[in-house]
Amino acid sequence: MNKWGYVGLLLAITVRGQDIPANKTVTFSKDVAPILYQNCTVCHHPNDIAPMSLLTYKDARPWAAAIRQAVVQRQMPPWHADPHVGDYINDPRLSDEAIATIVAWVKGGAPEGDPNDLPPTPVYHDGWHIKPDVVFTIPETTVAAGNQDEYEYIYVPTNFTEDKWVHAAEVVPGDRRIVHHATVSVVSAEEAHKFLATDRGASDVDRFHFRTGKVNHTKPDAPVSDDGCVTPASGPLKEYTSGAINHVPSIYLPGHLAETRPAGYALRIPAGSYLQFQIHYSNRLNQELADRTSIGIVFAKEPVTHEVAQYEIWNNWFLIPPGDGNHKVTSCFTLPKDVMAVAYTAHMHFRGKSMETEAIFPDGHREELFNVPKYDFRWQETYFLKHQFVLPKGTKLVTTAYFDNSANNPLNPDPTKAIRWGEPSNEEMMGFWLAYADVSPVSPTKDFSKGNPSDDALGKPSGNK
Ligand code: HEC
Repeated sequence: MNKWGYVGLLLAITVRGQDIPANKTVTFSKDVAPILYQNCTVCHHPNDIAPMSLLTYKDARPWAAAIRQAVVQRQMPPWHADPHVGDYINDPRLSDEAIATIVAWVKGGAPEGDPNDLPPTPVYHDGWHIKPDVVFTIPETTVAAGNQDEYEYIYVPTNFTEDKWVHAAEVVPGDRRIVHHATVSVVSAEEAHKFLATDRGASDVDRFHFRTGKVNHTKPDAPVSDDGCVTPASGPLKEYTSGAINHVPSIYLPGHLAETRPAGYALRIPAGSYLQFQIHYSNRLNQELADRTSIGIVFAKEPVTHEVAQYEIWNNWFLIPPGDGNHKVTSCFTLPKDVMAVAYTAHMHFRGKSMETEAIFPDGHREELFNVPKYDFRWQETYFLKHQFVLPKGTKLVTTAYFDNSANNPLNPDPTKAIRWGEPSNEEMMGFWLAYADVSPVSPTKDFSKGNPSDDALGKPSGNK
């Protein structure tokens, strides 16, 4: 907070705000607006994801008490990783000093102060939280009234004539009322054509899965394995269990803004690639709606030293009994090569309660890597590590998730049902995603046309999320 130059004042204030210097009035214009502009208005401006704007005194004043409560309880800005496990670049948590300033402001009657003290009002660009160099948008896609679970796969050619490096990317839904989530993955032209040629209308997907409309579910009699560490490493379950590799420039999940990679780390889009938009539409309204979702991409401006990809590690064979308030599901994945850890994401649906990932290193020692003690479906952040580090080949990643399928979970769509893997949000998923880079630096000028040295295959549509 030093940058705002009121350190002297803040030293005298505690989080509870008892020790406010008597002669100092904390005002919106001078003290509070800088905090809001720095930490809040990125979402709290007109037509963005938050319910109200906090840009002006007039906007913010009615919310003073709610703001105080939200920051004291650390509900805002949203952040769900345990701060004692891992250090993250995109950690937005307020300092104790900033919280104390807000508390003192509200306690003093939330005065405006002198408008001349206001810092410049931040400017936002229609929906983007980054400044894209290029934007790709899907053709208009209509979603019928009341159609709550539709997965669309839409392919957009990049027409890139050379490999491109993605530093940051953001997916912006065309109509937030119906875009439940959207994942954009990089696929080859060949894969895009193959996928489009296959019949997605079949009702029997395979031995263990069936389809209704445009979504997949697990058959009730499919094998059950809550402990992913004992699921056979070969055989029919393997394919659905762990380690799908995906090249994901960005996703739109609830509460998820742009993804900005650390300097020097970038995702490669090979020349000629397609972008696969996997969009989960959910239209609860009584009218047909149309969507045009976009991805904006910021190219790396600095030399790229590390190419980023992502392991998506799943357990897709759990069964959560009806009413179970604390059901444990684990997944296990052994790294096939040395990798640099770059970022983590936890993905579950409404019944997700917590997720923790531990590494068991080849020498046997264990380390907790990541912990989301109170998972919230509405806030699915990707946590970018401040210090990338090597996870050696043979390291076992053990992820433990708990699900709350009881009536005490206010988000639970139906506590009376046994729940298995399924694409609709009222069924479940259990995924831990590790964004990683190769340990050896890449040469950005190298010819990649003969295949990608950092991966075994380009991402295939995993049908998961
Ligand atoms: C990443 C986007 C984002 C950021 C950053 C953010 N908010 Fe929010 N905020 C939201 C959304 C979305 C909601 C509504 C959903 C919810 O409450 O979870 C919300 C809700 C709130 C509410 C509750 C409103 C109500 O209806 O009671 C308050 C108060 C609030 N935010 C204050 C803040 C303050 C103060 C900051 C900065 C210190 C901040 N927020 C930062 C997105 C954000």
